[in-house]
Amino acid sequence: MSLSLLSPLINELPLPHRLLDESMEFAWQSPSNIALVKYWGKKNEQRPLTPSLSMTLNRAFTRTRLKVLPGENGQGLVSVNGDPAHPFLLKMNQLLHWMAVEIPVLRNITLTATTENSFPHSTGIASSASGISAFTLCLLDVAVKLLGAEIAGEKFMQMASFAARAGSGSACRSMYGGFTVWGESPLEAGSSDEFAITVQEFIHPEMLKLKDAILVISADPKSMSSTRGHQTMEGHPFFSNRILQANHNLEEVLNALSANDFEKLCAVAECEALTLHALIMSANPGTLLMKPATVEVIHRVREARKSGLPLFFTLDAGANVHVIYPGDVATAVEEFIGADLKPLCEGGRVIYDNCGSGPARINVNRPVA
Ligand code: DP6
Repeated sequence: MSLSLLSPLINELPLPHRLLDESMEFAWQSPSNIALVKYWGKKNEQRPLTPSLSMTLNRAFTRTRLKVLPGENGQGLVSVNGDPAHPFLLKMNQLLHWMAVEIPVLRNITLTATTENSFPHSTGIASSASGISAFTLCLLDVAVKLLGAEIAGEKFMQMASFAARAGSGSACRSMYGGFTVWGESPLEAGSSDEFAITVQEFIHPEMLKLKDAILVISADPKSMSSTRGHQTMEGHPFFSNRILQANHNLEEVLNALSANDFEKLCAVAECEALTLHALIMSANPGTLLMKPATVEVIHRVREARKSGLPLFFTLDAGANVHVIYPGDVATAVEEFIGADLKPLCEGGRVIYDNCGSGPARINVNRPVA
């Protein structure tokens, strides 16, 4: 994969080794995101088959603290939360090695990571977007520091989005607050298959106040990884129409978000969620990820909307449901969720979140928790 966007770091020479004689720490907090236009299917080099659009979350985030150990022995990431066999270690090291191919200064280092999610474990909520984006931001901080490079602001976030994509596609969309688009589209100047861009300036201020109640229908690990699911789009019978549909839906969602047209947003976002599951069910092999309670929630959300409550549902590649609603009707919608949807959730678990402002660097002199 070409790392062209990282080129400002490629030809830089490392600073004198003095820096590696002492341990250094970097920490970031990075949010999860929920796609309203779904990324499903990828082509070579982790590029999406279709453009996608997501809302950045606020309370569902990962905090990661990376410690660069002194000495130049190049062992990579040796432990996560003190565990040398942590389940995320392999994925995180793959990303480190990918970045180190083009940023040689990352080849020589040995690291430990401490990481924690704001949302409880075993909720079935995917942590890869927030986890991979937080780790990438820390790694980029390491590279910039070791090279003494002067890269900050928008350029830094664009590089981070570019690199995070290699770890997990949806992670590249977590680099900005509000709403982001990943994938080349004639609708968005500057959009790219290689990194996400913010579309915040086109969004109506009311839409930036949207809320998201995450209904935990099942805390079980997903029966199919997203990475495996993306592969099943190869040769899928609906493949070519899906590309047309996603591009059309992106236009519809962008129009709805800029015009504060909540009704239109409901229609397109629900269509996207159900299309995602239709694609998953009709793939070879096909998988049914919805549980009976997922379907019951969908019916109840639609009934509530018919009786005048503004809300819609969306789904990831799993059984859990995200219920999205405007901030100014939060009291009424949350009352409905508490009475009618919460009893359908595993352990009655609902995580209340809202549209957020993106990643933040953490002062390493403060404790992570
Ligand atoms: C259904 O980003 O988890 O959530 O790139 O293989 O890591 P990889 O996949 P991932 O796929 C997310 C798929 C989705 C839809 C979306 O977030 O757009």
